Amino acid sequence: MTAASARRRSGLREVLLASGNTGKAREFERLLGGVISVCPLPPQIVLPEEIGATFTDNARLKAEAVFQQTGGRVAVLADDSGLEVEALAGQPGVHSARYAGEGATDEENVAQLLMALHGTSQRQARFICCLCLLVPQPGPGVALCIEVSGETAGAIEAAPRGKDGFGYDPVFRPDGWEKTLAEAGPAGKDSVSHRGAAMRALLETLQERGLLTHD
Ligand code: IMP
Repeated sequence: MTAASARRRSGLREVLLASGNTGKAREFERLLGGVISVCPLPPQIVLPEEIGATFTDNARLKAEAVFQQTGGRVAVLADDSGLEVEALAGQPGVHSARYAGEGATDEENVAQLLMALHGTSQRQARFICCLCLLVPQPGPGVALCIEVSGETAGAIEAAPRGKDGFGYDPVFRPDGWEKTLAEAGPAGKDSVSHRGAAMRALLETLQERGLLTHD
């Protein structure tokens, strides 16, 4: 099911996004297409340190921290995502945002990755996105927890290409594509991306559980 086909039948009307990443926020707004509104993180909310060993652990950590700090009154959606490169034994993985060091820019992370892969023809990689949605239930602090994931296989190019997207998009070319994700345009990226796949899985699950209902 797509966001468009679920339009006008959303039981869950808004989610608070447990992320300060503007690239992700833009993609969630597009992917939810008005079915569910995406509210930005209020400035007083503190995101936890991402100490989990897996994307799933970190997504849950972020969702739970934000759910608690907002008093368990609103639904919270957290995303933990990143890039796993075969020749680097799965790195940068959960460290994707800080591969070139704490506070590194996207450009610095990409440069670090290209340096790590310099001289190797083994370029296979995959993007992974794990989502954790907490929906308030009757009773203080009680939540329904829905976890889904999506991934995209591809290869790391030798040099960045394209201006769209964020993070490692300029060097990631999905399998079967000529373009990088940063050359694909928003709709192109959503059709193939790990976040697009995870969001479609989330919408399916919400529909199955009756959380997307007719107005
Ligand atoms: P986190 O989920 O906030 O820990 O950070 C995820 C990091 O993985 C981002 O800062 C990017 O470097 C990378 N990443 C995740 N999703 C994407 C994507 O869709 N395109 C490019 N890079 C991504």
